[in-house]
Amino acid sequence: MVSFKSRRNLMRGRVMDWVTCPFLLPVMFSCMGIFGLLKLLQWIRMKAYVRNSVVVITGATSGLGKEAGSGLYHLCPPGSPRTLKSKDTELRSLLLRFTCCLVFDQGQTYKPSTVAFDLTDPPSIAAAASKILQSFGYVDILINNAGISYRGTIVDTKMDVDRKVMETNYFGPIALTKALLPSMIKRKKGHIVAISSIQGKYSIPFRSAYAASKHATQAFFDCLRAETEHDKIEVTVISPGYIHTNLSLNAITADGSKYGVMDKTTTQGQCPTMVARNVLVAVGKKRKDVILADLLPSWAIYLRTLVPELFFRIMASRAKKEQKTKTS
Ligand SMILES: NC(=O)c1ccc[n+]([C@@H]2O[C@H](COP(=O)([O-])OP(=O)(O)OC[C@H]3O[C@@H](n4cnc5c(N)ncnc54)[C@H](OP(=O)(O)O)[C@@H]3O)[C@@H](O)[C@H]2O)c1
Repeated sequence: MVSFKSRRNLMRGRVMDWVTCPFLLPVMFSCMGIFGLLKLLQWIRMKAYVRNSVVVITGATSGLGKEAGSGLYHLCPPGSPRTLKSKDTELRSLLLRFTCCLVFDQGQTYKPSTVAFDLTDPPSIAAAASKILQSFGYVDILINNAGISYRGTIVDTKMDVDRKVMETNYFGPIALTKALLPSMIKRKKGHIVAISSIQGKYSIPFRSAYAASKHATQAFFDCLRAETEHDKIEVTVISPGYIHTNLSLNAITADGSKYGVMDKTTTQGQCPTMVARNVLVAVGKKRKDVILADLLPSWAIYLRTLVPELFFRIMASRAKKEQKTKTS
């Protein structure tokens, strides 16, 4: 009779034989090499795509927008005038001064500029768009990134709060898009990116206004893609899962006050630098619809579509649990 210990040793020996077999290591290293090479190629492609472009990023003062801005800023070719300065200091001082969108003139001066505007204020959006077009002549890539989140129950939430979230996350970005679109169509060149959310694919309780604004975003930019394909306009919708930014801190609540809490899910979220990098790579690859989330939230999209009853039950029990923790 073979004891449990000796059977375990036997198994361990077999695993070691398998790991150290002459074929496995070379195969493993080749796969890692190919993977690394593919990543490098993706990065080079993205660099080539954005390098000669005028890029506008909204919400560049913080979180994902700031990281995407820094990513683009560091793509300047060696020897360009701004590499002589301390890049980080210059960029930081620009970003700290404005609630803004960041415009990169990668084509000529490689110098970033900022344009201040408020997404909830349509005249300021129109003014920002015409200022951008007057200064740069055209926009190659518009990244609609700015947004706010929300926490609250539907029954307690004031309509003004629903409107503010929709203005910031939906009406504002579509107004900016519409202001810049004719010049893109005229040139038969342009790329419009919408930073949506996994909550643009399915809704999570106590986030009604946010999820609704992101569903609307997804729908609008899907239509835009279809309508402008023959004008050579690229449209990319990116749906990230939780990212470790200040989004939950800046979220608004049912009465319009600031939530001011860094949620555990946000703290445990993806690193914004990595998400920004993936956003730029997706743009470089001209992807149409991208999900940047962990497995569980990504699978939930399929659950919502294929087994909706189960999905609704899970969401209802999540709502019940959250409600209980709030009242206890
Ligand atoms: N963090 C996440 O877990 C997560 C997950 C999925 C999707 N997203 C999406 O990612 C995008 C970026 O969010 P983030 O996580 O980077 O959050 P963040 O750190 O709070 O950044 C939000 C940005 O939007 C700007 N903004 C907010 N309201 C504005 C307004 N009315 N007018 C102009 N700009 C305004 C903010 O500028 P000020 O600071 O000057 O107000 C800030 O630059 C959002 O669209 C968000 O929905 C985030």
